[in-house]
Amino acid sequence: MTSDVIELEDLPGVGPAAAEKLREGRFLSIEAIATESPAKISDATGIGIGSCTKIVAEARKIAEIGEFITGDELEKRRGEVEKLTTGSNGLNELLGGGIETQSITEFYGEFGSGKTQIIHQLLVTVQLPIEEGGLNGHGVLIDTENTFRPERIKSMAEGYGLDPVEVLSKIHVGRAYNSDQQMLMVDKALELAEKYPVKLLGIDSLTSAFRAEFLGRGTLAERQQKIRSHMRDLDKFMEGTNAATVVTNQVHSNPQAMFGDPTKPVGGHIVGHTSKFRIYLRKGKAGTRVCRLKDSPHLPESEAVISVLEEGIRD
Ligand code: GTP
Ligand code: MG
Repeated sequence: MTSDVIELEDLPGVGPAAAEKLREGRFLSIEAIATESPAKISDATGIGIGSCTKIVAEARKIAEIGEFITGDELEKRRGEVEKLTTGSNGLNELLGGGIETQSITEFYGEFGSGKTQIIHQLLVTVQLPIEEGGLNGHGVLIDTENTFRPERIKSMAEGYGLDPVEVLSKIHVGRAYNSDQQMLMVDKALELAEKYPVKLLGIDSLTSAFRAEFLGRGTLAERQQKIRSHMRDLDKFMEGTNAATVVTNQVHSNPQAMFGDPTKPVGGHIVGHTSKFRIYLRKGKAGTRVCRLKDSPHLPESEAVISVLEEGIRD
């Protein structure tokens, strides 16, 4: 799947230099180019209008702009969205009822804020029957930090009265040692979904491998481009499965920030635009964690407080 991802450089007439200018001008995807006028792109990038006209035409061919979908088809697709409980009613409510299938949900926050605990919890709740807030499915985890702990799953399974060994048998864990492996594992997850009813794909962490491999400003554009193509693979994974995708992300420390949160998620707008739900986690009083829903287009920015207990995530 990774191989058929279309990058700016795949557009006829776009070489590395033009691709760089397009990205600097904030034209980061084929779709972004396809929906813009050649004149505007030329202005923003300094690329000649003739070339821009050709680039836009090629982008429109590839992006299949002009494809229509009927309202009933759209409604049907939307009607297939299911919601997965997090174990906490407050956090479910914050998310409009739970973690949605067909969307990417991102949990970000500093070390120890509970991201890995939440992923563990979802790998358990996804197995619950629908009437208990689960999706009656299997979970897949791409573990890039080697933080998956079977013992932790067992405690959380017991918290729901489930058989711990059976729960573990429905969790498929893939260790990724670098970003290339991480990306390939999304293809593998899709293969698994042909064999098992996979309803959750967790990636813990989405960005750490990319961050470690692409250090320094010079490689930032390359890193962002790779993350973008990874995120696109995740979208394709969900189109094929009606599963939920949940990713974790670290924060950049930003000591210069005088107001608001002194932290920002890694990956910037690329991760931000693709994640439908972004939840910022921070440590609260007495071992609690505060979850804040950030820039959601259809839900208010508000907070929920959760506890990380022996039996799992609860209110
Ligand atoms: P990084 O991956 O380092 O960025 O952190 P993270 O956000 O993934 O943090 P993680 O989810 O690992 O949270 C660690 C915290 O969860 C610990 O400080 C504990 O408070 C809590 N925790 C971890 N394991 C257990 C457990 O077995 N029982 C209980 N009650 N709490 C736990
Ligand atoms: Mg972690």
